[in-house]
Amino acid sequence: MKSDKVENTSLPTHIAFIMDGNGRWASKRLLPRKLGHKEGVKTMRKIISECVKSGIKVISLFAFSTENRNRPKDEVAALMQLIRDNIYDMLKELIDEGVKVVFMGDLSYFDDDIRKSLDRVISESADGKKAIVNIGLNYGSRDEIVRAVNECVRAGKEVDANEFASRLYTGGLPDPDLIVRTSGEYRLSNFMLYQAAYSEMVVTDTLWPDFDEEELHSVLAVYAKRSRRFGKV
Ligand code: FPP
Repeated sequence: MKSDKVENTSLPTHIAFIMDGNGRWASKRLLPRKLGHKEGVKTMRKIISECVKSGIKVISLFAFSTENRNRPKDEVAALMQLIRDNIYDMLKELIDEGVKVVFMGDLSYFDDDIRKSLDRVISESADGKKAIVNIGLNYGSRDEIVRAVNECVRAGKEVDANEFASRLYTGGLPDPDLIVRTSGEYRLSNFMLYQAAYSEMVVTDTLWPDFDEEELHSVLAVYAKRSRRFGKV
C-alpha cells in the first residue's frame, strides 16, 4: 500500500539522542542537578520504549561522555549511582521484549559492580532481534576515532572507509539517520563525529526531562519531510 510505503521509508532506521538539559531542568526548579539526571533516566526509558514501539530499529543515547568525567566529583558520583541503580531495571522489560542492548565507550572506567550490570545487560539481551539500543557510556568520538586508527596501525595495513567504520564502537550498526539534541544547543559535543557525516539533525529547546512521546513524534514528522541527498543533487 502506498501510504504504508511512504511511512516506512520516512522513519529513521537509526535515531540518536544527545540528552541535554537535565541540569537546567533541575536548576529551574531550585533542585540539585542530580535530580535532573534522575528525571532524565525516566525520559530515557519512556523514549526508548516509544522508539521501539514505533518500529525504529536502532536507538542511540549519549548518557555519559569522556568530558563528563571532569564535572564536579559529587555530580560524577551521582551519575555513577544512577547508572548503578537503573541500568538493568530500566532495560529489563525491553530486553524481555527482544531488544538487544550494546554500549559504546571505554567501559574500563566504571567500577566493577557497574561493569557487572553492563555485562548482564549485554549477555541477557545478546539474542534480541526487535531493535538495538546503543548507549554511550564514557564515550567520546575523538577517543573512538583514535582508538580505531591505532587498531588499524597495529593491523599494519591500509583500510577503506567501511573497514575503518567497522573498528568504531558502532561497528556493524548503520550510521544515524537522525540526531536529536534537546535544550537548544546546536553542537555535536564529541558525539558520533564520523558516523554523523550525513545525519539529519533536529534541535529542540525542550530540556531532556520534559521531552516526551508527543514531541518524539513531532520530531519524526520533521525528519519525514527532510530531503536527504547525501551530497548528490
Ligand atoms: C546532559 O545534561 C546530560 C548528561 C550529562 C547526563 C545524561 C544522563 C542520563 C539521562 C542518565 C544516565 C543514566 C543511565 C542509567 C544510563 P546536562 O547536565 O549537561 O544539563 P545542563 O546542560 O542543563 O547542565
